[in-house]
Amino acid sequence: MRCLLVGSGGRECALAWKLWRSPLLKQLFLYPGSLAARDWGVVVTAAEVDPQVQVADLTDPRHLKQLARWARGQRVDLVFCGPEAPLCAGLADEMHEEGILVWGASREAARLEGSKVFAKELMRFAGIPQADYDVTSGMEETRRCALQRLAAEGGAVIKADGLAGGKGVFVCTTQQQVHEAASRLSGSLSAACSSLLVERVLRGEECSYFAWVHEDQVEFLGFARDYKRLLSGDRGVNTGGMGCYTPLSWLPQDAASRVEERVIWPLLRELKKKGLSYTGFLYVGLMWGHEGPQVLEFNIRLGDPECQALAVADERDWLAVTQRILKAGFCEESHGKEGSGEVSASALIPTVCAVLASSCYPWKEAPHHPTKLPDHIWQPSACRHIFGGALKRGDDQSIITKPGRVLSVVCRGASLAEAREQLYREIEVIRQGIWCDFQMRDDIALL
Ligand code: AMP
Ligand code: GLY
Repeated sequence: MRCLLVGSGGRECALAWKLWRSPLLKQLFLYPGSLAARDWGVVVTAAEVDPQVQVADLTDPRHLKQLARWARGQRVDLVFCGPEAPLCAGLADEMHEEGILVWGASREAARLEGSKVFAKELMRFAGIPQADYDVTSGMEETRRCALQRLAAEGGAVIKADGLAGGKGVFVCTTQQQVHEAASRLSGSLSAACSSLLVERVLRGEECSYFAWVHEDQVEFLGFARDYKRLLSGDRGVNTGGMGCYTPLSWLPQDAASRVEERVIWPLLRELKKKGLSYTGFLYVGLMWGHEGPQVLEFNIRLGDPECQALAVADERDWLAVTQRILKAGFCEESHGKEGSGEVSASALIPTVCAVLASSCYPWKEAPHHPTKLPDHIWQPSACRHIFGGALKRGDDQSIITKPGRVLSVVCRGASLAEAREQLYREIEVIRQGIWCDFQMRDDIALL
């Protein structure tokens, strides 16, 4: 199979590794590609796709059209897309126009993530359990509504409607936090705030459900627990995610089927009523309380860094699963690797991931000192992987750090405790010999 993987972060680095391991893969193109994934695929430059551009803009519909034409020229069979923004901008629609299969949502279905108001109203019609909410417009109305909810319920969650890279949600328990949230949202996040939401604070244990979904087929991938706050002890601002672990032994045995019954099937039925069908990974952010799961959000992709942990924890061949679900009649030429690509669902191996982020993350206000990373760190060992995210080339062509989530360090073991111990040992090695100017949480999977 000839595949194109769109995206360039730690998640896409892990996806590249996972796809590369499949005996079904013949050729993998990475666009714009993680520099740390060069051993697993061909990194394609923006100029190869469109000679008129230097830097890939994956939210520009014109550029996505060029990418689809380029993919047809390369006889790409199947496209995977890591991040949400290209799907929201119509990547899948452009690929379909060129007759190329995509494991990812159409522009319309991508609104599940692209508009939180759309998702909330869809859930309301479908009877999916979720937090009570108000839709607001403008910062004054939002502030007023949040202060009212705060006074009545002791807390309020303010959310930007549009895409904000995981940084547009503020859980407030004081008036000062409401004012700070309003000021952040009206500053660098204002583009995502044509509408806003003020929600009730849900209580419980947070977890994320992941599945392959295609029309009326659902194949469970796994649950993971993400750590969204920047600082240990769940302090600091919300980020894209600072670490995670999988599987979640504290969930009930029938957790996946309960989510499917109460959330996934009602969602797919509601989408169908709107004339929409869904294809791609589906990630449901949940709060698991006394009455079971309540939905925090839908995402039309795998999580970052949950994908990094799931890719290592799950022994299944993800390309084979995707192919089977799409019932795609690809030519199954192997490129000399052992195995048939047969899919066998197996339990997830205990796996823990911690993100090493630049010291200015998630804002770009502090200066960043680029650090050179040696090539050998990308080579996986039996139980340790390092996936690369915010990286760029230095003047001497070496790989250097840039602001953002730079490395995802992933370890697996016989138990979560063992994986966790190994993880923090590996991070210490990085700190001592490679890079020390990073932020990380030291409480990932501390159960
Ligand atoms: P979201 O992007 O909507 O998942 O929100 C990001 C994070 O904010 C979630 O992972 C939760 O930790 C928190 N959050 C969002 N909505 C709520 C809510 N209604 N109650 C409590 N926490 C929430
Ligand atoms: N780690 C959270 C996310 O990918 O949205």
